[in-house]
Amino acid sequence: MSLPKRVVLVGPMGAGKSTIGRLLAKELGYQFMDSDRIIEERCGANIPWIFDVEGEDGFRQRETAMLRELAEQDQAVLATGGGAIMRPENREVLKQDAIVIYLRTSIEQQVERTRKDRNRPLLQNEDPEAVLRKLFSIRDPLYTGLADIVMQTDRKSPRLVVRQLVNRLNPKTPRHKRKVYKEGRHHV
Ligand code: S3P
Repeated sequence: MSLPKRVVLVGPMGAGKSTIGRLLAKELGYQFMDSDRIIEERCGANIPWIFDVEGEDGFRQRETAMLRELAEQDQAVLATGGGAIMRPENREVLKQDAIVIYLRTSIEQQVERTRKDRNRPLLQNEDPEAVLRKLFSIRDPLYTGLADIVMQTDRKSPRLVVRQLVNRLNPKTPRHKRKVYKEGRHHV
C-alpha cells in the first residue's frame, strides 16, 4: 500500500487520537492537524465554552465546517473529535482520499484516560462511564464501518501503536527507507 494523501484518526474520547496522531505524523513526515484544537484556536474559546454558549449543535456546525476545510490538506494526519463520525456528511468528507484509522479502545481504558479531564463537556456529569458506554454502543459500528484499519489501543503505548500503524500502512518498506517521506515523497 503506498501512503495516502491523508491519514484520518477516529475513535472515542480517550483513545489517544492526538498523541498518536502527532507521533504518526512525525514518523511519516506529514503535518499534524487536530480538529478540536484548531476549532478552539479559531474561536478563541475552549470546547466547554463553545458547548455552553452555542450548545452541542453549535459545536457540531463548527466541526463540520472545520473537517471540510482540513480535508483539503495533503500529506496530513488528522485527529478528529470522538463525535465527528456522527454526521453522514462528515463521514463522506473524512474518507475522501484518505486512509481512516479507528483507534479502538475499551470502555475501561476510556474511563481511565478521561478520569481527570475537565475539557470534555459530555463527561461532566454524575456517571461518565455510563455516557461512554452509551456513546460506544452507538458509535462503534460507525467507526468500524468507516475505517480502513481498526487498531486496538488497549494496554499499548502510543509509540507501539504508531509502530504497528506504520507497518500496516507500508509493510514492505524497510525502516531506514521510510525517512524519504520526510523529503516530501509519499509514494514508494
Ligand atoms: C466529543 C469528543 C471530544 C470533543 C467534544 C465532543 C464527542 O473530542 O470533540 O468534547 O462527542 O465524543 P475527543 O474525542 O478528542 O476528546
